[in-house]
Amino acid sequence: KGKRAFIAGVADDNGYGWAIAKSLAAAGAQILVGTWVPALNIFETSLRRGKFDESRLLPDGSLMEITKVYPLDAVFDNPDDVPEDIKTNKRYAGSSNWTVQEVAESVKHDFGSIDILVHSLANGPEVSKPLLETSRKGYLAALSASSYSYISLLKHFLPLMNPGSSSISLTYIASERIIPGYGGGMSSAKAALESDTKVLAFEAGRKHKIRVNTISAGPLRSRAAKAIGFIDTMIEYSMANAPLQKELSADEVGNTAAFLASPLASAITGAVIYVDNGLNAMGVGV
Ligand code: NAI
Repeated sequence: KGKRAFIAGVADDNGYGWAIAKSLAAAGAQILVGTWVPALNIFETSLRRGKFDESRLLPDGSLMEITKVYPLDAVFDNPDDVPEDIKTNKRYAGSSNWTVQEVAESVKHDFGSIDILVHSLANGPEVSKPLLETSRKGYLAALSASSYSYISLLKHFLPLMNPGSSSISLTYIASERIIPGYGGGMSSAKAALESDTKVLAFEAGRKHKIRVNTISAGPLRSRAAKAIGFIDTMIEYSMANAPLQKELSADEVGNTAAFLASPLASAITGAVIYVDNGLNAMGVGV
């Protein structure tokens, strides 16, 4: 029987979430996605109008089907958390049931269970500020959207996850090495995410036989990365310095996610898997 995946953090066809969806679909999984509420309208419209059809093409010649798109804002766990200004915001008022708990309930109601949970989202309002200039509010917002969002997703989806299920997030090497420009507490958020991967692997593994891993991905020109502002420099740096001197394609990360979600990876949990052309292994630029 085919597996069912829920991928949080897909709002266009340029990011890692989309590529992971494609690799999982190519391997036969049914695809459900969670899309950030403010981006929902344009994503669904583009999907409907065929704007992504070229990027939906799978290796067997068929087009990836997204069975259902759920509105999601992963910084809110349940309706009690949502402040008035968001509730009444035009971009949110048109959708409902988009807090983490409600999305998990909706998926349970619609499909009963899932086998694969992917967290491919991050947000740091002060990402362009150095850590020393980051406000408390900006720092906590980065951790809330980029790290706690994963704990919350896993916690609320656990009851729907079949034993043997796999959960994957996306991280970046700025968590462990100095990457000037990855500011606003985003480096801290990725460090928390990687540490949490270990503890969550223990807790979800012992209790539910669920594996928890994170992919430390190299630079990709996604919408989120373009907003940070130094993505072209990072891609050039990797091309110049990594053991493999080629541009990283999102599909290479997608394929690793498909491997991690498969029985081929049945003994891998609590791991940070580098998919970066080997750049993490370098000690100096050459
Ligand atoms: P992306 O723009 O495709 O994905 C980020 C998604 O997060 C967007 O769809 C956005 O709408 C969503 N999002 C933001 N706040 C949200 C919230 N509160 N609730 C729900 N969704 C929310 O960009 P990308 O780069 O593919 O990012 C995916 C993951 O990959 C992130 O965790 C990112 O940190 C990670 N990553 C990206 C790298 C890159 O060079 N692009 C390198 C290493 C890791």
